[in-house]
Amino acid sequence: MSDTLKIVTDSAEAEFAVTEGTIRATELRQFATPDGPLASFDPGFMNTAACHSSITYIDGDAGILEYRGYPIDQLAASATHLEVAYLLLKGELPNPTQLAEWERQIMTHRFVHENVRDLIHAFRYDAHPMAKLMSGVASMHTFYPSARRIEDPEARDLNIVRLLAKIPTMAAWSYRHSIGRHFVYPNDELGYVDNFLAMLFQSQQRVYRADPRVSRALEILFVLHADHEQNCSTNAVRAVASAGNDVYTSAGAGIGALFGPLHGGANEAVLKMLREIGTKDRIGEFIEGVKNGRAKLMGFGHRVYKNYDPRAKIIKGACEDVFEVTGVNPLLEIAVELERIALSDEYFAKRRLYPNVDFYSGLIYEALKFPPEMFTVLFAVPRTAGWCAQWLEGTLDPEQKIMRPKQIYTGYRTRDFVPMDER
Ligand code: SDX
Repeated sequence: MSDTLKIVTDSAEAEFAVTEGTIRATELRQFATPDGPLASFDPGFMNTAACHSSITYIDGDAGILEYRGYPIDQLAASATHLEVAYLLLKGELPNPTQLAEWERQIMTHRFVHENVRDLIHAFRYDAHPMAKLMSGVASMHTFYPSARRIEDPEARDLNIVRLLAKIPTMAAWSYRHSIGRHFVYPNDELGYVDNFLAMLFQSQQRVYRADPRVSRALEILFVLHADHEQNCSTNAVRAVASAGNDVYTSAGAGIGALFGPLHGGANEAVLKMLREIGTKDRIGEFIEGVKNGRAKLMGFGHRVYKNYDPRAKIIKGACEDVFEVTGVNPLLEIAVELERIALSDEYFAKRRLYPNVDFYSGLIYEALKFPPEMFTVLFAVPRTAGWCAQWLEGTLDPEQKIMRPKQIYTGYRTRDFVPMDER
């Protein structure tokens, strides 16, 4: 395609520079239309770029995912979540000295204000843990008002470290509150993932030490979930950040968006779907229901991936490691058969629907004895690293402005008020 786009109307014509595969939407305004200056209409932002970003690259057709240029399969095989968080935020993998200092900083800030403990306790025990987590994160700027000084580099960096350090603590406490167990405090002897597992599962005074296979599998899941360019929750984070908000308030919005069953809530919905199918011989009936529009195949489909989500492949492999410890999740057999049938069905092939990151992750979480309502919390914890990197990039981006899309108005135009006795 040439690097210019010419638009000719019956009363005007103009050429647009095509740069980076886009045209500047604001340049469309030079064309007058009966409804005002020409604009684009793009519900759900199906075909609209909102920012420049150098954090994560996805090629949906080829099934490629890279964080700062490093392929996801190499990071999942060799990096820890904190290494990846450093990479997403700073742009380069840390050397041993940088990683040691990064881990020390995170370790230092893992405790949360005791008021957050009370905040979580203020919920009913059976309140969804995503609500508890969202409230805890959104409350954090009240304990750390320096976060509101978004123009201060030291304050930005310190509050990002605080959020990354404290999100596992709040997530674990959201779970412990739902099962009526005492809250376990962070343990400086344990690394990021092992400390999270201990705060979740420690039942008496003896320090809980996770099986290394489980710990490694969760580390891989954390790496895979760390970022995913301009997904729905990241867009929410950037939108709230664009109004000049701190990282906690913005991440709180991200947690809200991730909670949706079409987004991060899909891992919880997949297990519910597999349980409703119940047995392999009922898969055909379920697939027919999907094709007739009565249900969605949760964990399938993606706005960007029109090929197999590279993360789903890796998670499917991690299942085997975890099931060595926990025993095979009986729903795995249904999931594998459901995938096989769907991938051979024209309905899914024509719409380029493949398993996404959520299709297999819930099977691991269930095997680790997490209740389904914790699955999206387990997505939010690692995605906090991506949200922080995206918040920082958006906050520092000189071309960003407060996000305020246009609309196409379809309601009444000017009409006179109707007194009550005439309605
Ligand atoms: C995540 O964006 C990200 O990067 C998100 C994420 C991340 O890491 O942040 O990758 C995490 O959110 C993964 C997606 C998890 N959600 C699910 O698994 C829920 C099920 N999936 C669908 O709801 C859907 O695929 C979406 C929401 C993921 C994508 O929706 P799109 O891009 O808006 O696609 P669409 O709804 O326009 O679908 C196109 C067609 C439609 O059929 P037609 O109207 O053309 O006949 O495909 C159909 C849809 O009905 N379709 C499905 C389907 N997904 C799409 N049909 C059945 N089952 C599905 N899952």
